[in-house]
Amino acid sequence: MDSLDIQKAADIIRNGGVGAFPTETVYGLGANALDPIAVAKIFAHKERPTFDPLIVHIAHIDTLHTLTKDLDPIVLELAKHFWPGPLTMVLPKSNIVPDLVTSGLQTVGIRMPNNTIALELISKAQTPIAAPSANKFGQLSPSSAKHVQKQLPDIDFILDGGDTTVGIESTIISIDSNTITLLRPGIITKEEIEAVLPNNWTVSSEKPKDLIAPGLLQSHYSPKKPLYIFTEIPESLQENSGYIFHSSQPQFENEKSILYTSENNNLLEVAAHLFSALHAMEDNDSICNIFIHSIPEESLGIAIMDRVKKAAFQYNK
Ligand code: TXA
Ligand code: MG
Repeated sequence: MDSLDIQKAADIIRNGGVGAFPTETVYGLGANALDPIAVAKIFAHKERPTFDPLIVHIAHIDTLHTLTKDLDPIVLELAKHFWPGPLTMVLPKSNIVPDLVTSGLQTVGIRMPNNTIALELISKAQTPIAAPSANKFGQLSPSSAKHVQKQLPDIDFILDGGDTTVGIESTIISIDSNTITLLRPGIITKEEIEAVLPNNWTVSSEKPKDLIAPGLLQSHYSPKKPLYIFTEIPESLQENSGYIFHSSQPQFENEKSILYTSENNNLLEVAAHLFSALHAMEDNDSICNIFIHSIPEESLGIAIMDRVKKAAFQYNK
């Protein structure tokens, strides 16, 4: 990826186009966050309902002041600690953020991605970039440029930065009068955030009842084939089925339809390889059903199982 490609992509963004770029979590589908016509193209390409708000990506901390109002000092503390990185903060928005970006909400989700291509793109575009994950609404998130190409072949550009390193979407928190609410679990855990907070602040996992944000609904990120979660390792494997494990299974050495996200239950590796394993199973014509091993829902396992359960939801009602 040379600087020239990034400059071209930045010019396209400045001129109201839409294109995909890597972040450390998943690929994003970006447009100029301050141009509602450009932002509308994101919704059209994704076939995403406009009641689902977008995250705005920034490259400099100063932009945070432009996009928000009544900024609590704790936000700057968290930004200093976790940015650039996979933490999105939902904050009171300023007037320059178009309603389409926030689906009419008075808050805006903001993050600074930890990826040099993304940061250079935003800097060169000289505007914050609104970007959801670069997949069709409801389908699997992309962790490589190839995944984006599969679902969104008609966008203006795809910057290829190789496989993403984190692999699952950012942790989302909202910040409001001494309460921080965890809206979406991610690789940055509730405990890590609490460790940075003064004593009078807490992180609640209780979602506000009036929040309408489909990424936070039960069904999301689904492969196009039935996906089932298993807890006990089976003695034999079903025909025409693909299996995803998180630790090596020597007893199945000769089975073809197995993918490992990790050899030894390393949860950072599991997160990094989760979506690519699901994409590979989706693309494999000899597989009709996908089975995935569950992992304990603690620490990083919470964010990973959040994605797995959402991917499996429609097939396990
Ligand atoms: O890691 C990520 O966060 C990736 C990369 C590209 O940055 N982006 C991503 O965007 O996952 P998306 O649109 O697929 O998911 C963002 C979620 C949505 O579920 C949306 O409803 C929620 O964030 N969201 C955005 N703004 C919000 C707001 N103001 N209030 C509540 N939820 C919000
Ligand atoms: Mg998404």
